[in-house]
Amino acid sequence: MNDPVIQAIHRRAEKFPKATKTSVIEKFAERKNTIIKEKIIYTPKYVEVRRKSKEVERIAKNIRTMGKHDYFGQRALLYDEPRSASVVATVPNTELWRIGKTVFMGIIQGGMLEDLEYRIRLQFTTMEFTDLFVDRVIGRGTYGTVKLVTHKNTKRRYAMKCVHKRARAELERQILAENDHPFIISLVRTFKDDEFLYFLTELVTGGELFDAIRKLNILSQPQAQFYFGSMSLAIDYLHERTIVYRDLKPENVLLDHQGYIKLIDFGCARKLNGEKANTLIGTPHYMAPEVIRGEGYTHTADIWSLGVCFYEFVCGTFPFGRNATTTQELFNDILHGKLTFPSQVTSKCAIDLMKRLLCRPDKRIGGFSEIRKCEYFQGFRWDKLQGRELDPPLIPAKETYAEDNRGNPPDDDQLATPVTNVNWDRNF
Ligand SMILES: Nc1ncnc2c1ncn2[C@@H]1O[C@H](COP(=O)(O)OP(=O)(O)O)[C@@H](O)[C@H]1O
Ligand SMILES: [Mg+2]
Repeated sequence: MNDPVIQAIHRRAEKFPKATKTSVIEKFAERKNTIIKEKIIYTPKYVEVRRKSKEVERIAKNIRTMGKHDYFGQRALLYDEPRSASVVATVPNTELWRIGKTVFMGIIQGGMLEDLEYRIRLQFTTMEFTDLFVDRVIGRGTYGTVKLVTHKNTKRRYAMKCVHKRARAELERQILAENDHPFIISLVRTFKDDEFLYFLTELVTGGELFDAIRKLNILSQPQAQFYFGSMSLAIDYLHERTIVYRDLKPENVLLDHQGYIKLIDFGCARKLNGEKANTLIGTPHYMAPEVIRGEGYTHTADIWSLGVCFYEFVCGTFPFGRNATTTQELFNDILHGKLTFPSQVTSKCAIDLMKRLLCRPDKRIGGFSEIRKCEYFQGFRWDKLQGRELDPPLIPAKETYAEDNRGNPPDDDQLATPVTNVNWDRNF
């Protein structure tokens, strides 16, 4: 339940239970359509609500499935527009909470409203591939090349990740399309041609956390709380939706122009519905022992990777495999090495948290609800972090992209030349 909008609604409900309950809880029978004009509808319990666009309703195409603590109707409410899609409850006795415009506008203001409006604009942008002008390469990862693109008419800028077609990319698209969190990259739409898949996303202009933490060196407690806390919120949002991310590391966390984080790259993520995953996937230094062992793992793998990041923030180095020269040596250290701390790290509550993150899965801290209770976060203002009212450790002075720091290797992929035969394809 960590979306700031939902948090703010809850804080308000605790303070003014009666006033907020103008928002009646309604029960919807399965498959009943809801009318969402002038109301934001929020789901307090686990439900499945499908959102179908009017246009594709005839062929019953689902554009988004919502679950616990999701909300919809914000666009119609903010801009007095008719609803753009129909919403169908897909489980019996779906409970939804209605919030009227006056109450909503009283709750959501300032930076939070700005961020919400920005995300709404992104979600409802219509454009074709040919409307975009390719500027330059701004990032390269394991699978993709990322370019800065500009919409020819509106001059709005986006990032375009281009990957070779492969089965995983469809999953990456599905998961990205369902995410809606201020600390997670927003997908605008996808395109494909014969060889490549293209993800058009919001452009994040503050560079990688990887570079930011090298600038900051060893992070102070407020600095580490800011980044680790934000990453815990993003990961918790995914876990609530049964998604395991599986590649958490500072290269996959970007900073926006305010200095707040955006988790990117869902190339390794998958959904787990009660079963365990077995695939050896991720980035070796951040892999949990249970991932390496191959005996099955769950979301605990992400908590371990969070722990490796936290260790890097606080100690300035990796917890395991610092001297390893091969992956085998690295894996051995992760599996059998002892967790030690540099002598300059003396904060007991930081060490306690590292121990609880980097331990056997059955002893490991459960997730965000436990992280927020630990001593390291005592007195930390989570509401201010979510409401974007904390001062970030670094505010990017100018636009920074990963490729600016790494020199520009020759541009060898096809996005440099005009692309033909490109179709927007809802299913890839
Ligand atoms: N939306 C974006 N805005 C700015 N830079 C981005 C964006 N998405 C990705 N990048 C840059 O491109 C790099 C590679 O993208 P990523 O999605 O991680 O690809 P891969 O799946 O190949 O690892 C990232 O590490 C980041 O530096
Ligand atoms: Mg990546």
